[in-house]
Amino acid sequence: MHQPIGVFDSGIGGLTVVKALRDLLPRENIFYIGDTARVPYGNKSAETVERYALELAGLLLRENAKLIVVACNTVSSVAIPKLRAALPVPVIGVIEPGAHAAIALTRNRHVGVIGTRATIRSGAYENALRALNVHVRVSSCACPLLVPLIEEGLLEDQLTDLTLARYLKPMMNDGIDTLVLGCTHYPLLAPAIARSLENAVQLVDSARNCASSVKELLERQSLAASGDAEGTLRVVLTDAADNFLSVARNALQLEIGDVTVQSVC
Ligand code: DGL
Repeated sequence: MHQPIGVFDSGIGGLTVVKALRDLLPRENIFYIGDTARVPYGNKSAETVERYALELAGLLLRENAKLIVVACNTVSSVAIPKLRAALPVPVIGVIEPGAHAAIALTRNRHVGVIGTRATIRSGAYENALRALNVHVRVSSCACPLLVPLIEEGLLEDQLTDLTLARYLKPMMNDGIDTLVLGCTHYPLLAPAIARSLENAVQLVDSARNCASSVKELLERQSLAASGDAEGTLRVVLTDAADNFLSVARNALQLEIGDVTVQSVC
């Protein structure tokens, strides 16, 4: 039995990262934990998010994870240094891969970033983008209404379109040519976001870029699964979340199988 890649998120949004991992690395076993009992993290303090992240990572280590993927922008923006210092396995978040992709895509060096309040407040994307290119201009916007709309399954809905227009139009008028979807829920809204931006802005899906970084790291550190057998996916949630789970299953077309409910401690 191969050691799994451990993936965690504040809830179910991180399944967008799992989907990207399954597509790119079909032979890898994946153990996913979503902290549905304590979601959302996006409005919580950095200290609380760090503590929750260490607890979830501990659970993944007990499952013998060879690598930990932080499939949550909020956690990635505040807790990566603590996790890297505390854990004996490599840790990959979503911020750096997303920032790299945005810098590669932008032509006018004006990048927009959307995310939860905690992600935007942390300035993590701005710092990562500027570390790659000091001349980049970053326009950020916290979009706290998007996660509830997505979790309600309103992926194609007038209410969502109005909300997106309110958040995105100022950035578009300001001239961004690239937008980082800085929350693992947001890829589910990509078609509506693209439409709201009149298909004139390139979208950076942090889930897909994170999966590419995982592939690179597995190869570099000789950690990739050997053999041809298809990898397994185990999903554990800290509380039942049937509604959003079916939204994610349908939107992502991800084979999830049985979901176990387990508490963290
Ligand atoms: N999955 C989280 C993120 O990527 C958003 C949900 C939350 O607020 O916990 O930031």
